[in-house]
Amino acid sequence: MSDLKQLFTQAAEAAAHYRDQVAEAPELPRLAYKALVERMSAPVPESGSAPDAVLRELLALTEGGLMPIVGPRFFGWVNGASHPAGVAADIMVAAWGQNAGFHTATPAASAMEAVAERWLLDLLDLPEESGIGFATGATVANATCLAAARTHVLGKVGWDADADGLFGAPPVHVLIGAEAHSSLFASLQLIGFGARRVIKVDVDGEGRIIPAALERAIAGLEGPKVIIAQAGHINSGAFDPFTDIAAIARAHDAWLHVDGAFGLWARASANAAERALTNGIEHCDSWCTDGHKWLQVPYDCGFAIVRHKATLEKAMTQWASYLPQIGNGDRVPSAYVPELSRRARGVPVWAVIKALGRDGIAEMVARHCRLARRLGERLAAEPGIEVLNQVVINQVSVSFGSDEATRAVIARIQEDGVLYAGGSHWRGRWVMRLSVTSGPTADADIEITADAIIAAARAVKALV
Ligand SMILES: Cc1ncc(COP(=O)(O)O)c(C=O)c1O
Repeated sequence: MSDLKQLFTQAAEAAAHYRDQVAEAPELPRLAYKALVERMSAPVPESGSAPDAVLRELLALTEGGLMPIVGPRFFGWVNGASHPAGVAADIMVAAWGQNAGFHTATPAASAMEAVAERWLLDLLDLPEESGIGFATGATVANATCLAAARTHVLGKVGWDADADGLFGAPPVHVLIGAEAHSSLFASLQLIGFGARRVIKVDVDGEGRIIPAALERAIAGLEGPKVIIAQAGHINSGAFDPFTDIAAIARAHDAWLHVDGAFGLWARASANAAERALTNGIEHCDSWCTDGHKWLQVPYDCGFAIVRHKATLEKAMTQWASYLPQIGNGDRVPSAYVPELSRRARGVPVWAVIKALGRDGIAEMVARHCRLARRLGERLAAEPGIEVLNQVVINQVSVSFGSDEATRAVIARIQEDGVLYAGGSHWRGRWVMRLSVTSGPTADADIEITADAIIAAARAVKALV
């Protein structure tokens, strides 16, 4: 075997071994961050090492510190499980080393991204004239969409934000649900709209924008306006009422963006009730979703979807004599995202969609929603456990009485290691938040999970 083949084979074998182990008996990290930094700390190597020795050392140094995010009982945060087809595709992406910013230089990688773009619009049933930027994740994808919004709404009042920036520009009113995801504020901060300089719109008990409150907030505002709605609240999974919000946006000539980092995939569910949650979402101007959450594409992968493709291109394109020019009908990958050089993100997206198919995606989303409902029902049936949200998709937020009791149950669960769940603060209470988004999660995992949580809750109750 050539050295190269041996090296790549060793990496593939180690990867397969890890995945088999996580599938059978997921183990939480035994070592914490500080211990791992200590283990890894070393001076800059003065001379190089053989690649296979580097790989062996890398595996030894990370051992005991990996979170089983790709396992079937990982419910902490909304994380996908890196579908094997996406992992294999990513190995090729790394091996090929294509710089996917230039379609003229890397035609195959760029063509695959162009096809993946069409597939995503079809799967999500969004306007086919839209363009999609393949970004690192939802935070950057939201910022990318909002940059297009900035270009559009300021352009309409005669201000070129891309050329002249925001200094001296007419103010842009940004209206956002009071319980929008924290990352949106980072996106707003990044594009110069400011995290604090927003109008927060009242929401209901599930965190959904109240249309009458939006109407009140927007009435009387003069000048450019952007409304930010949400598909999939991080704690409740709730969806804003898009049909009503879109009518308000239209009446007030506002750009309507939706953060659907995970929730947008409800639109691809096999279950009509979940699809219906997204009704009216097709009327938005831009949408963000992640590949690395519900779609199971390996990290990093988010999508900035903008109906007005030319506006997105104006907001993102950079010009140099040696770069391909846009406008001749070709899709230039770097014209849709902030970066120029980047890995061929469209390739693992293509591979995961190909592996799952429309049916597989629909089944997975519907299964996760059904399993989340089952988990919610089992937990709610136990005295002392309260499910705080209406489980409409994959998110379950649970209280075990006092904040102290909830924290104690979470700590116990993390110690037991049967599953992973974390905490969150919602409606003035500390909750255990469970996100059912891991591709391999099956019915049996939910029963094991419910048993383990109920046992932990009983044990904590017995101590108080
Ligand atoms: C609703 C929502 N929006 C945005 C984000 C940010 O996504 P990312 O971590 O991919 O940047 C998340 C992450 O969990 C999310 O749940």
